[in-house]
Amino acid sequence: MSVMVVVGAQWGDEGKGKVVDLLTENADVVVRYGGGANAGHTLVVGGAKVVLHLVPSGVLHKHTTCVLGPGTVIDPAVLLEELRVLDEKGFNASSRVFVSDRAHLVMPHHKVIDGLREARAGAIGTTKRGIGPCYEDKTGRRGVRAGDLRDRRKLEARVRAAHEAWAPFVASLGEKLPPVDEIVANYEAFGKRLGAQIVDASALIGAAEREGKRIVCEGAQGTLLDLDHGTYPFVTSSTTISGGACAGAGIGPTSIDEVVGITKAYATRVGGGPFPTELDDETGESIRRIGGEFGATTGRPRRCGWMDMLALRYAVRVNGMTSLAMTKLDVLTGFAKIALCVAYERDGKRLDELPYDDLDDCTPVYEWHDGWTEDLGAVRAFAALPENAKRYVARLQELAGVPIAWVGVGPDRVQTITR
Ligand code: IMP
Repeated sequence: MSVMVVVGAQWGDEGKGKVVDLLTENADVVVRYGGGANAGHTLVVGGAKVVLHLVPSGVLHKHTTCVLGPGTVIDPAVLLEELRVLDEKGFNASSRVFVSDRAHLVMPHHKVIDGLREARAGAIGTTKRGIGPCYEDKTGRRGVRAGDLRDRRKLEARVRAAHEAWAPFVASLGEKLPPVDEIVANYEAFGKRLGAQIVDASALIGAAEREGKRIVCEGAQGTLLDLDHGTYPFVTSSTTISGGACAGAGIGPTSIDEVVGITKAYATRVGGGPFPTELDDETGESIRRIGGEFGATTGRPRRCGWMDMLALRYAVRVNGMTSLAMTKLDVLTGFAKIALCVAYERDGKRLDELPYDDLDDCTPVYEWHDGWTEDLGAVRAFAALPENAKRYVARLQELAGVPIAWVGVGPDRVQTITR
């Protein structure tokens, strides 16, 4: 194995942090290839909670080199704070976390614009981390890149250009942006602090590959939040699927050997947008409470529902998944009946494939499974799971069409069944 890509199979928050942490135990390089501080990985190590937004989860293994690839968008203040906290906890992050010089920077106006849009009607429920506006400046060819922090004149010219483009719009909505000089001074200081951590990431990854090192590309968000393949327009602004690893890390598709998808044993979503299997009732409330389903980045309660197999099969296909890791099976303990959505009904017709739009008009067709009451927290072998839990996982695997190689039965690293 040289390159493995790990992606979220649902709407994000699948528990990628824990799985990546596990899969990177033997990795040399861990790369994030998209998104920014909109992500939130909550990791539990030795009982202690660590929340990361930008730094890849693989950082918790002290032998890994971690890279924020050219496809990511970096808020330098958030990154420096995460590095400080990790350094303080003894992870030496500042000596082994690198940022691509081609990665775009989240600037103050991005967060202001994200916030202003979210305050208006038709908001999509973003994380307000400035992610969408940053990618807009990137495709609009007026973005500021991490490499620009090395050269004050270049930095100032780019900041000024973006400022001139956006200040009138921001003013029309009654807000003001900080002065250019102040932004340049702050970002220059960020650049000085990051210093030699800003690198040619693709070259670093390419060299590691030639040396036969093991590389894990860590996806952020999830398949159904992908800009092209998600539930548009309720999506994030980057390519979250495995294909995004090529552009977002700077590697060729021929380098990828394995694609692991992460899915919860049920479904959740934060922010607006369609969610056909959402449970707006006591069952949904129970899943939220037992599963601790509150956003790691924004603290928002996550919407909860049953597993949607149309969405999962779609995710298996668009990512070319070779296996799945299922998280949080333990959360379903105690439910008398557990549902799997195996099709939708719309206008009296049965749909077996995820439609491109109008998911709000789809009614799930459920297959019901008997639940179990045994606590799963201490189970370490698939054979030791209660019969009904085994049946549920086996049926899910059959419908997904790829092996479920890992099953999570609790938040700790050790609470994982490897099949
Ligand atoms: P943005 O990425 O902040 O622009 O938000 C766009 C949509 O993606 C919103 O519905 C967010 O709630 C959602 N989103 C972004 N990042 C994550 C994540 O890491 N987990 C779950 N949802 C996310």
